[in-house]
Amino acid sequence: MTTVRKETLLRALTDMQRHQQGNHGWSVVHESLGRLAGRASAASLDTVLAAAWRVRPAISDAHLITLLGIALRTVAAHDAEAARVFRPELAAGDRVRVLERTLERHRDEITGIVTEHSNSFTGARRFLVPQLVIGAWAEHRRVEAVRLADLGTGIGLLPRQLNNRTVFDRFAPDLAWFPYTPPFRPVPLTARTGVDVPPLPTLEWVRGCHGPSRYYTERFAEVVWSLEQTAAEAAELELLPLDILDPAALTEFLRTHRITVATCNFVLYQYDEATRERVIAAITAGLGRPGLLLSMEPGHELRRMGACVRGYRAGSTTALHIADVSDAHFLGRVTLGPGFAELTGADPNP
Ligand SMILES: C[S@@+](CC[C@H](N)C(=O)[O-])C[C@H]1O[C@@H](n2cnc3c(N)ncnc32)[C@H](O)[C@@H]1O
Repeated sequence: MTTVRKETLLRALTDMQRHQQGNHGWSVVHESLGRLAGRASAASLDTVLAAAWRVRPAISDAHLITLLGIALRTVAAHDAEAARVFRPELAAGDRVRVLERTLERHRDEITGIVTEHSNSFTGARRFLVPQLVIGAWAEHRRVEAVRLADLGTGIGLLPRQLNNRTVFDRFAPDLAWFPYTPPFRPVPLTARTGVDVPPLPTLEWVRGCHGPSRYYTERFAEVVWSLEQTAAEAAELELLPLDILDPAALTEFLRTHRITVATCNFVLYQYDEATRERVIAAITAGLGRPGLLLSMEPGHELRRMGACVRGYRAGSTTALHIADVSDAHFLGRVTLGPGFAELTGADPNP
């Protein structure tokens, strides 16, 4: 079992190294992990992987790989020798030796991170798509009150940003829509809630989930700026600990908070396919009517750039293809799919 999982993990690592964006600082560590995982025996890595698979059998390869990178970044923050893993100028063989020693010396800390934490990278520009899609849906369905829950919210950025015109106007010009841009419509929000699995991520943890590069320093600055701009909305936001893999707890949360619209962005890719389907079924069953689940996930399991946006009506697990996004950081282009017209009554051939 572990051998088969390691083979698929190795394939995912190889694909992720070919990522068109070069991963902005992560690729050097993915390369070393790939070299180490490719050896017949690599006790230091095998021990960590075995612990992760034992505690989290449903974890996806993409998530485990990103978590390993985050764990290495965490130990590199207090161990200068470990920080050499991220130095592209070091010969590949030397970096693999540093990686092995780091995994041995910091085994408990690294194992703790990959078994107890999740990648909580948060994108300040992601809310642009839910803003326009939920706005269009609410207007079409004449919905006067949207009770929103952002599932796997991280630090609760998206539910704060919705309807904030200052934040929208800063980021919207960098995202081109095809064949047309839906107009900005305020979402008639009467409740803003967000949940994440305990321990709830801190801003410091989110910082560590950003890659070690200038590109990611800029993205993180956008998160901090957005938090500052949305201090007023923060007062309305209820942030709660909840494991969405627990179907009974999820259903109870959705019903007691009378949630009608759920967003779940860059969360489900962290799990295997069967788990994703179970969570979608539980969410859509628990939403009030008329209700909507909007789900955005990385395209191709982080192997390539981009994201796919899907919509589900309350009570249905049939996915509507709302849009494709060229870059999961929501800089670039959004191409509307047929599900957008189906969901919002827009002209399918404008
Ligand atoms: C990559 S972050 C995305 C954050 C935010 N949705 C965004 O798109 O910017 C994924 C988040 O999902 C959360 N998460 C993963 N599994 C979860 C679960 N079972 N229940 C609740 N939250 C979960 C993680 O803790 C993490 O904060």
